Amino acid sequence: MAQRRFLITSALPYSNGRLHVGHVAGAYLPADTYVRYLRARGEDVRFICGSDDNGVAALIAARKEGKSVEELTTHFNHRQKADFEDVGIHFDVYGGTHQPEYVELHNKISQSFFQVIHDKGYFVKRTTEQLYDVQANQFLPDRYVKGTCYGCGAPGAYGDQCEACGISIDPMQLINPVSTITHTRPEPRKTTHWYLQLGRLEEQLRAWLESKKQVAEGTPAWRDTVLNFSLGQIKQGLPERAMTRDLDWGVPVPLDDPDARGKVLYVWFDAPIGYVSFTAKLCQDRDGDWRNYEKWWKDPDCKIVHFIGEDNTVFHALTWPAVLMAEGGYQLPWQVVANAFLNIKFPGKEEEKISKSRGTAIWIEEYLKIFEADPLRYYLTAIAPESQQTTFDVDDFIARNNGELLNALGNFFNRTLTFANRYFEGKVPPTEPREEIDCNHMAAIAATAGKMTENLEAFRFKAALEDLMALARAGNVYFDAKQPWKQRKDNMAGCGTTINACLQTVKALTVLMAPFLPFSADKAAGMLNLGVQEVLPWSTATEELPAGHPLAEPVILFKKLDAVELFGEATK
Ligand code: MF3
Ligand code: ZN
Repeated sequence: MAQRRFLITSALPYSNGRLHVGHVAGAYLPADTYVRYLRARGEDVRFICGSDDNGVAALIAARKEGKSVEELTTHFNHRQKADFEDVGIHFDVYGGTHQPEYVELHNKISQSFFQVIHDKGYFVKRTTEQLYDVQANQFLPDRYVKGTCYGCGAPGAYGDQCEACGISIDPMQLINPVSTITHTRPEPRKTTHWYLQLGRLEEQLRAWLESKKQVAEGTPAWRDTVLNFSLGQIKQGLPERAMTRDLDWGVPVPLDDPDARGKVLYVWFDAPIGYVSFTAKLCQDRDGDWRNYEKWWKDPDCKIVHFIGEDNTVFHALTWPAVLMAEGGYQLPWQVVANAFLNIKFPGKEEEKISKSRGTAIWIEEYLKIFEADPLRYYLTAIAPESQQTTFDVDDFIARNNGELLNALGNFFNRTLTFANRYFEGKVPPTEPREEIDCNHMAAIAATAGKMTENLEAFRFKAALEDLMALARAGNVYFDAKQPWKQRKDNMAGCGTTINACLQTVKALTVLMAPFLPFSADKAAGMLNLGVQEVLPWSTATEELPAGHPLAEPVILFKKLDAVELFGEATK
């Protein structure tokens, strides 16, 4: 098959905090697994991410910590990048929409998007009254106003929604509004903004989304969660949305219009453009020409895949494609892969939401001080919230590490390699003509590789991991059935046949687990003496090691975990 080209993105994390297991499970780990799989298949791939630095959230976090917003966002950008690396998530570029080496290209490309869409007439300019915090000297975004609900009279309703009665709030109508920044009463002031007329793109969006329901050769259908949500929104009608804000942090509105002064692009307008501008920066660094980004973004031969958390669906399956359609020169995403939220359960407690303030977040940095990356990668894929919310249960994490990774996978590697080392001088023994039981087992290897390929192509990571583990268990069943420890005593050639098949299984498992468990796969490749290679080619899963192939000393792949209480440390 001809080499395919993919541009893979993971949602840009806000650079105002650390990363926890819920982030990793949602938009990053599945993307990394997919990228590793594609690379193993020899595809041409670029994996893009970076931080979402603009917008009011970073500004307010910086104000709270008494730092400049540049300092704060750079600090978290670096920490997040390191966390990702440490769990084996390696991007080709990790940019940042306001980081020093990225901001120039980012602003240029974002402004060009805005200008083109403006010139094509997709914006309307409107003047409205909004709440202004005189002391903080800024207009207040909806979430930064609180007041008494005019629907139910409950205090503490937010400027976008009342949590007591659920109605959506017009912040201008809140009773006794208070700014959450300065706790003073804001006053209404007039301001002008540019609104994107999403309604004009409804028909085009609907037809495009409908086309994503179909499974075509080499094109998997989108997940129902993404399609149902997005088509549902279109049915309700897409309201126009302001794409500019009154702020002094962000991408300046590029228009030559006095009303544009002191205004920036809405953060959800410029953030996805970060995918484009970081690609451009990557092209600049690699081939000396940032314009080569067009080869990824404008050439329909390249498939663009966005990995996101479910709360970002509206922005990736509706607003962003609408922006791309309005601009007109770009291709649309080929896939938008969304995961639901991950909840958490500590021993002896109820399942709850991940929350920084309640101390129920397991931070990546803290987790890695205690445990290794692969057990986390394993568990987060095994419980992946692909179609609905799931729970990171600390007891279950320990149990599955010990029962599955260690007892099924690690044990099979260990017993096979130890046996080969002890009784076959650390070499792959020759095989006699295989009998039915051996042939059936060899057929299971090939079938597993096939099933995993199918599942990975369709973004079913959890199912692919289950296929892998089923093969590890089948390996143990085969080992037990053949009883090589008995064969060794009176049928050394038959014993060789068994261990040969077990080693072929170990080889297959090594190749097939690499996208999921890259650190362990590296160790396993070392034990099998597969030679130094950047990726283990996927097709070699079913290529047999020749008789006589020398093996290295076995090492332990997975450790027994028993310290549940250590998880307390990972929430600090
Ligand atoms: N920062 C957003 C979040 O964490 C995601 C932005 S994705 C992008 O929810 F595409 F807009 F960059
Ligand atoms: Zn209410």
